This record gives sequence, structure tokens and C-alpha cells, in this order.
Amino acid sequence: MQTIKLNNGIEMPILGFGVFQVSPDECERCVLDAISVGYRLIDTAQAYYNEEGVGNAIAKCGVPRNELFLTTKVWITNAGEEKATASIDESLRKLRTDYIDLLLIHQPFSDYTGTWRAMEKTVREGKVRAIGLSNFYPDRFVDMAEYAEIKPAVNQLKTNVFSQQWDAGAEMKPYGTHIMAWGPLAQGDPDLQTNPILNDLAEKYGKTTQQIALRYLLDRDIIAIPKSTHIDRMKQNLDVFDFTLTQAEMESICPLDKPADFRWSHRNPELVKYLWNYDKQFNPNNKVSNRL
Ligand SMILES: NC(=O)c1ccc[n+]([C@@H]2O[C@H](COP(=O)([O-])OP(=O)(O)OC[C@H]3O[C@@H](n4cnc5c(N)ncnc54)[C@H](OP(=O)(O)O)[C@@H]3O)[C@@H](O)[C@H]2O)c1
Repeated sequence: MQTIKLNNGIEMPILGFGVFQVSPDECERCVLDAISVGYRLIDTAQAYYNEEGVGNAIAKCGVPRNELFLTTKVWITNAGEEKATASIDESLRKLRTDYIDLLLIHQPFSDYTGTWRAMEKTVREGKVRAIGLSNFYPDRFVDMAEYAEIKPAVNQLKTNVFSQQWDAGAEMKPYGTHIMAWGPLAQGDPDLQTNPILNDLAEKYGKTTQQIALRYLLDRDIIAIPKSTHIDRMKQNLDVFDFTLTQAEMESICPLDKPADFRWSHRNPELVKYLWNYDKQFNPNNKVSNRL
């Protein structure tokens, strides 16, 4: 597996497997399948409520822990130095490991500087190898990067052929921070399947449009973590290392970039409220919300 060197010298796989919206029951099977076909980077989060499934899979998979690269994220409701510290210990317990390879602040809300201090401490204690951010738009990213003693290794952003993140990448570069792409397949957007530019490239290389979309990210040195619950698609999404796009082909994809949809912008107060209340709605242990 091709790797990328982070700003603290640690190498991580450039392509991994994400488990957002994979149910706790299915997660163990999916991660076992993903590891069996060759994935070594697994991306989960406290707010996915499936860290235990990931932990069970890594305990059973037979691949040594030091050959796997685990990412998880601290959720908004665990923000602040004290709560974040406790939540990281809980993530370690659920993941059945004594270290996390890459730990991120999931959203740029609540006491995220307190969370960062807790995360810096876990690095010094050897519980975490690298720390970073997620969904920090350029203004919030620079605020956090200036504050940080340990500069963020990555910023996980929605990045794909329709959301190319050139401005964010430029702001992150001086800090050595890499883009890690969530939604690298545009979260199943049917336009990815029908776009003529992607279809022409797919035909030329004998690949699918999804494989072209992933190759586009890798050719920009962007880490990508596609999700699928189907083993044939997991294999397909990994089978992108036997070709590269030419400079002209990369440029032909640039015009596919679209303005962000404000409904899903982290600057939309309605989305901020939704995310603050996400835990009440989606935490399977929250008996009150389960009754609603
Ligand atoms: N930091 C954040 O805020 C954040 C937000 C969202 C996601 N993430 C992370 O990023 C990961 C990936 O993002 P995502 O899951 O939102 O979206 P994604 O990986 O862009 O797309 C997943 C969708 O594409 C389908 N798919 C996968 N491979 C395919 C293929 N080869 N052909 C056709 N369809 C395919 C999947 O369906 P099937 O499962 O049915 O195959 C699913 O509907 C997540 O799992 C999570 O780890 C992070």
C-alpha cells in the first residue's frame, strides 16, 4: 500500500476504509472484509457508534496491530480538556487497542481548543501517534493551527471531483497539513456515474468512474477513505494503483468543482444546531431519543 508522510514523520496509507453509517452490527463484518482484501487504514469516529465493531474486527483479523492504521474522532459533546481525555480513553477501550494512530477533532464547534490540549497530551503520553482536524474551514483551520503546539497532521474535509478544496489545501500547506478526503465518492451521488468526462476516462483506462474519482485524489496526494458495505466494491475501490491520470486529464476534471451547498455548510446555523443535537438523535444508547 502506498503511504504518505505526515508532518510529524509518521507514514500512513494514502487509501483507507471509512465506516460512517455502517451499523454497529455490520461494522465488524465490513472491517474484517476490508482488511481481508488489503485495507490497512480504518476510519471511524465516536459519533459513528461503531468503534466496538472496529475493535472486534482488529482483534480477530490476524493482521498485527502495527500493520494497521486506526483513525477515530472526538465528538462535539466530548469537547473540552477533561471530557475529551475521558472520551479518548473510552475510544481506546472500544477499539481494543492501547494506541490510536490518528485522532481528529470531528467538528469545529464547542471547546475545541480544550480538546486539542487533551489530544496533545495523549501524544506526549504515547496513546496517540498523530492528531488532526476535520471540517475546519480555512478560517477556523488557521485559528486552530496558530493555536496548536503540535500542528495538525491532517484536516478531513469533504473532498471529491465535485468538491475539490483547492483554497483549503492552499491554507493548510504552510503547516504541512494534508487533506484527508471524506465523501471521496461524492457519497453515492449519481452524477459520478453519469458524468461524461469521468466516463471517457473510465473507458480509456478500463476502470469505473468511482476508480477515476479516487485516482484523481491520489494523484493530488490526498488521503481517501471510501466506504462500502460490499466486498466487491471494497476491492474495486482499492484497485486504483495500476494507472495514473495525465496532467491534462487532471485539468479536465477541474471544471467539475461546484460551489458548496449552503445546507451542508458548517457556516449554516441550522447545520450547527443539527450537529450539536446529533448525539440525541443517533446515539443508540440514548433511551430517550430511541423512544422518539
Ligand atoms: N469527518 C467527517 O465529518 C466525515 C463525514 C462523512 C464521512 N466521513 C468518513 O469518510 C468515509 C467516506 O465517506 P462517505 O461514507 O460519506 O461517502 P463515500 O465513501 O464517498 O461514498 C459511499 C457511498 O458510495 C457507495 N459506493 C462505494 N463504493 C462504490 C463503488 N465502487 N461503486 C458504486 N458505489 C459505491 C456506497 O454504497 P455501498 O456501501 O452500498 O457500497 C455509499 O453509498 C466515511 O465512511 C467516514 O469514515 C467523515
